[in-house]
Amino acid sequence: MKNHASSLNNENKFLILGCGFSGSFFAKTIRQLGCTALTSSRSENKDPNSFVFNSANGIVPNEEIFDGVTHILSCIPPDKDGNDPVLKILKGKLQNLSLEWVGYLSTTGVYGNTKGDWVSEIDKPNPCQKRSHNRLNCEKEWIESGLPAQIFRLPGIYGPGRSTFEAIKNQKIRVISKEHQVFSRIHVADITNAIIFLLQNKDSLKFHQIINIADDEPCSQIEVIQYCYDLLGLKMPKPILFEEAKKELSAIAQSFWMENRRVSNKLLCETLGYKLIYKNYKIGLKDCFLNT
Ligand SMILES: NC(=O)c1ccc[n+]([C@@H]2O[C@H](COP(=O)([O-])OP(=O)(O)OC[C@H]3O[C@@H](n4cnc5c(N)ncnc54)[C@H](OP(=O)(O)O)[C@@H]3O)[C@@H](O)[C@H]2O)c1
Repeated sequence: MKNHASSLNNENKFLILGCGFSGSFFAKTIRQLGCTALTSSRSENKDPNSFVFNSANGIVPNEEIFDGVTHILSCIPPDKDGNDPVLKILKGKLQNLSLEWVGYLSTTGVYGNTKGDWVSEIDKPNPCQKRSHNRLNCEKEWIESGLPAQIFRLPGIYGPGRSTFEAIKNQKIRVISKEHQVFSRIHVADITNAIIFLLQNKDSLKFHQIINIADDEPCSQIEVIQYCYDLLGLKMPKPILFEEAKKELSAIAQSFWMENRRVSNKLLCETLGYKLIYKNYKIGLKDCFLNT
């Protein structure tokens, strides 16, 4: 683990709400630093460090789960009505804890379509999709909650076990070509590492309430797919033009192609000094290739 100037330690107790892809990576890493980390999922499982939280059926964590909690990271998206599941059910509870820090994983979808231009935290959000309006409302609610909340805006998340390789292996890959279209991405390890970097250095760094965590090189989907096929030693199928392909895409898949933006990481990587582990998709996908 790089980038750490001082240490988090066993006096810190984290609740990771929503232990999916990013949450479980964060929990594993923070435990390696000696912190306690309890994680939530919507149903019972065998993990002794896991508890159930499900806003849909109102299952809330037991009181003792919150004992001594210092940090919370929410990785749960808005619910079907657009509400934040954590704030809807647990806001009052969290406000009564002595929390040092609360992190919320959001999306760069709140910026909307910049037609390929770079976008940063100082740009006004301009959501196009209903789900992005909902997300912006959830961000607002976290900011106005009075909790020591920090929002992390994320582009497409990938990492070992969830990347283009899985789409190729499961034959779910669609090689679509759309002129000038780019996507930004982030490796799951950089989400965790960047957040830990900010926590480790919080006394010396200016606090920013909203931070993008993205890699250095937004690029076309085809470049990424081609690179994966090359690593696998396979021939990439012929690309289909977007106008043709879109007839078979789900509404949600289509909506991703309607937004074209380059997400800037200058605040995180230049102003605050975080050094990405995986600066671009090539380095990140090599890691996935070797570790999946
Ligand atoms: N995936 C991406 O490319 C991407 C890009 C940008 C932003 N984001 C956002 O970043 C965050 C983390 O992403 P991720 O891909 O790591 O998430 P993920 O793997 O989909 O995990 C989401 C977690 O939220 C829990 N959850 C969902 N609805 C819930 C509810 N109503 N009540 C309680 N728990 C609930 C899930 O519980 P179970 O474990 O029981 O399923 C799961 O643990 C999410 O908000 C996501 O929308 C994702």
